[in-house]
Amino acid sequence: MKVTVVGAGAVGATTADNIARAALCEELVLLDIKEGLAEGKSIDMMQTAALLGFDTKIVGATNDYAKTKGSDVVVITSGLPRKPGMTREELIGTNANIVRGVTQNILEHSPNATIIVVSNPMDTMTYLTMTTSGVAKNKIIGMGGILDSSRFKYYLSQALNCSPADLNAVVIGGHGDTTMIPLIRYATWNSVPVTEFLSAEQQQKVVADTMVGGATLTKLIGTSAWYAPGAAVAALVRSIVRDEKKLFSCCVSLSGEYGQNDICLGVPVVIGKNGWEKIVDYKLNGDEQALFNKSADAVRNMNDVLKTL
Ligand code: 2OP
Repeated sequence: MKVTVVGAGAVGATTADNIARAALCEELVLLDIKEGLAEGKSIDMMQTAALLGFDTKIVGATNDYAKTKGSDVVVITSGLPRKPGMTREELIGTNANIVRGVTQNILEHSPNATIIVVSNPMDTMTYLTMTTSGVAKNKIIGMGGILDSSRFKYYLSQALNCSPADLNAVVIGGHGDTTMIPLIRYATWNSVPVTEFLSAEQQQKVVADTMVGGATLTKLIGTSAWYAPGAAVAALVRSIVRDEKKLFSCCVSLSGEYGQNDICLGVPVVIGKNGWEKIVDYKLNGDEQALFNKSADAVRNMNDVLKTL
């Protein structure tokens, strides 16, 4: 297996590090436009191999897409991260052109790759890739909901004082501070609904904290987070390369599912060797469907901005 990570910034490098340590592929290419950055970080990671015991061959490249040839999976993290106080949506003007160019370069050398989109605003960047690349829709996966779901579990574990590993919780909708939908009704602590243990106020606080989980970290750190995003991408890559059929919330192209068409939005999907293989219907209630439709409207407005760029 060969995996390429485009963008050797904090998210891309952490993604590559997670993939290498888990030995998810034989060859991993880390590519960036900044001279030497990807090469340096790749060698640094390779110098952990003797200590951490992996044999993944990590190769750094400065804008040399020939080195990505024949990649099975490509992760696009390139573009600007947000700064404190910024929304992900404010990055669209810069990142849309970057993602469009990266996608074209990648496909020239790896026409059969499954593409994982991380760059923000992720839902719109996934839609851009969907509508400009000609790649089959099941091979384009936006990474957002899996990260937001992990943050949801973190905040639930804090409220319940329990192990995050004992929690099942999912976030659907957009990957935005106001567009994501933590499905508290379906969240469970070892199969028991968390609503049995948390007051309405505690539930509302967990949902609210989850929705701004990324912004909270950006305010503390001064830039976008990278550990949880990197781990989330690696979990996606693992389910693809090992055909694990994991059920994750990912941003995929909807053709009527959840009542939406011509949009890429976070829904529960089965992830395997063919990319996303099935959208699972969670049967939303009236309030949840209304939130999903509102989320779709907000993301569609962002998608419309692409036409003006
Ligand atoms: C986040 O939420 C980078 O959008 C990503 O941290």
